Amino acid sequence: MVKHDVKVFSSLEEMSWAAACAFEDLSRIRAIENKTFSAALSGGLTPRLLYQILASRALLGRIQWKNIHLFQVDERCVPPDHPDSNYRMIREALLDNADIPAENFHRMQAEQADLEQAARDYAHELARVLQPQDGDRPRLDIVFLGMGPDGHTASLFPGTAALEEQSVWVRPNHVERLGMRRLTMTFPLLNTAAHVIFLVAGADKAEGLRKVLEGPPGQLPAQRIQPLDGSLSWFLDEAAARKLSPATRGEP
Ligand code: 6PG
Repeated sequence: MVKHDVKVFSSLEEMSWAAACAFEDLSRIRAIENKTFSAALSGGLTPRLLYQILASRALLGRIQWKNIHLFQVDERCVPPDHPDSNYRMIREALLDNADIPAENFHRMQAEQADLEQAARDYAHELARVLQPQDGDRPRLDIVFLGMGPDGHTASLFPGTAALEEQSVWVRPNHVERLGMRRLTMTFPLLNTAAHVIFLVAGADKAEGLRKVLEGPPGQLPAQRIQPLDGSLSWFLDEAAARKLSPATRGEP
């Protein structure tokens, strides 16, 4: 069985603070190296507290936002001020409350009529900022991912076409079950990241998490997050981790 790096926290708050510290530590290393630090942020509800902590007075002055570039993992095909917009959640939780240069946040323009063009434009933005070597994929320093009860991550849902994408970094994905289209980073890009941290909280995730971490491999989208040359960590709260074996939880 694959050995996962699983950290179980007593609460969403403790988990979110641990994720914020990981972000701060990794961004500080890149600042010391005088290099850009790049992070890809998921939407949904779980990461909101993390984003609020990153913008909080407690971390004021401890994160060098001027050399940090923020990207989106995925976006719903709604206007940026729509209640369902991941951008709106990130803006309200983080961007409106931290001293982040406007040009350092790269919004997925999933409201565009031509989603294929929006995907190409976003890939060009990733290349412009991260400047991969010719033929290489851009390497994000950190990616925060969520997971749905069905084992989806990003907007890579079970049974959808984007699961099979092997080349482009960003693409549209039609999610039949939700009756909506999304724009999402793909496995090839996500698996090129240096550090991937799943943030999973809540009892509704427990069964899906057990299947992902302890079930047969290759069945669920979240299982296909396997960084080629990077770390993969699972930050869980107790409620989400309650169905995991002691071995999976890293306990004796
Ligand atoms: C989205 C997210 C998605 C999310 C999971 C978990 O656009 O909804 O990117 O992948 O991470 O659905 O969502 P919650 O954190 O709200 O449970």
